[in-house]
Amino acid sequence: MIVVVACTTARTSETPQPSPSPGTSQTTAPGNAAPSATAPAGTQTDSVTRERERYVAEVMQEIAGREQQPASQVFKNLKTLTNVPAARLLSIMNIGYGKSLGVSCTHCHVAGEWDRDDKPQKQIARDMSAMATAINTQLLRNIPNLKGPNALVNCTTCHRGQVKPALNLP
Ligand code: HEC
Ligand code: HEC
Repeated sequence: MIVVVACTTARTSETPQPSPSPGTSQTTAPGNAAPSATAPAGTQTDSVTRERERYVAEVMQEIAGREQQPASQVFKNLKTLTNVPAARLLSIMNIGYGKSLGVSCTHCHVAGEWDRDDKPQKQIARDMSAMATAINTQLLRNIPNLKGPNALVNCTTCHRGQVKPALNLP
């Protein structure tokens, strides 16, 4: 049995959401800039978001007229996301994968050569998808008394906009 975890965020919010408000930096007094490991949230997030949207638009042009065909008939090298419509594969890429990890497409791909598997992150993403499916179908389902009814984890659950999921709260 193959169950594909297509991140639910992609299903419900295909329109880009506004980036976190600049208000998040209000605790830092001006001139009191403690060196921070985190990137300057607002601007960087926006440019990464725009880059992803640009790549999505490029691929959408290439597949014009075939958007609703099964992804496996439109694209060349799919092992996980074979059953979704081609356009939906792209929204999973953009929101479900890219936005969830806070990265652009090039974190996992060589831009424009989307079928190639050169970057280890691409196979990791496939393995992560299988892991999330295992959690959902083998583990979560067997925990009684959840509020549910559809208790699920997806990429966002752990990554929350970061490549490396947090182990501690800030
Ligand atoms: C976290 C990693 C990751 C990110 C980020 C990502 N992708 Fe992907 N992409 C994948 C994986 C994994 C596959 C293969 C899925 C499969 O095997 O079914 C894939 C497949 C594709 C394919 C199908 C290529 C083919 O012919 O087989 C396209 C097109 C694509 N991605 C475009 C994009 C675009 C555009 C973006 C940015 C908006 C993006 N991807 C972001 C991991 C990623
Ligand atoms: C149960 C929590 C969890 C879920 C769900 C999850 N991940 Fe991860 N992911 C991790 C952890 C932990 C790491 C390892 C971070 C590290 O290197 O220490 C990781 C690492 C990754 C990496 C490697 C990042 C890098 O460049 O080093 C990619 C790519 C990735 N995840 C993609 C995904 C995708 C795509 C999904 C959804 C299909 C997903 N993850 C779902 C926990 C999760």
